[in-house]
Amino acid sequence: THIFPNSGAAAKALAAEVKALIEERAKEGKNVVLGMATGSTPVPFYRELIRLHKEEGLSFKNVITFNLDEYYGLTGDHPESYACFMREQIFDHIDIPKANINIPSGTVPGDQVFAHCREYEEKIDAAGGIDFQILGIGRTGHIGFNEPGSSRDSLTRRITLDRVTRQDAAADFRGEENVPHFAITMGVGTILRGKKLVLMAWGENKAEMVAKAVEGPVTEAISASFLQDHPDARFCIDEGASREL
Ligand code: GLP
Repeated sequence: THIFPNSGAAAKALAAEVKALIEERAKEGKNVVLGMATGSTPVPFYRELIRLHKEEGLSFKNVITFNLDEYYGLTGDHPESYACFMREQIFDHIDIPKANINIPSGTVPGDQVFAHCREYEEKIDAAGGIDFQILGIGRTGHIGFNEPGSSRDSLTRRITLDRVTRQDAAADFRGEENVPHFAITMGVGTILRGKKLVLMAWGENKAEMVAKAVEGPVTEAISASFLQDHPDARFCIDEGASREL
């Protein structure tokens, strides 16, 4: 666990680390595979990556991305879709080739969901696996949308969103009744295959979940607790989120 004075300092340090990785691989003519997260948490990190692109010439031409999740039932142009969020928060501001961006589909027909999820797993493997995975944490302790009950070896699949998660999204959707009931998410097992995992959390309202995930038992009740068993997983948090440690 790394405790930073604030989210800006953490975002700067992590973005510098990613920059070094991208540039090192570019020199070797190789790609970097980044696992991307949504929510308010990674926004300062994305902002810093955009700054590095604009001010320091960091190129994302050799970067391939896989997002953790997407609401099921939303088209990619719905303002609350994660596809839209990612375009607005980072992809429209950097030089990543469109073909390198992967986000689970929110509109794949029901009878094709299983195949779509299997293909997502295969694409991750074909790209060489995720080098650097960014994570946030939800109020249910979820990573991606792996709600309580998600097993350690779960893979990309459609899940039912927890009531708490839907309540937390209600403001963005102008009412809980507008929040989708389902999502497609990488599984815990998918995430744990990543080589380097970084969970970010800011503010006191994350403190209880961070403490449970870092210091509590490893349990399906809190999918973030599975990070304890990963050889290279870090919690990068601010002082507020560290209050209960
Ligand atoms: C959603 C996302 C998670 C994210 C969580 C917390 O549930 N699927 O990936 O970690 O929200 O959101 P925030 O970062 O806004 O607190």
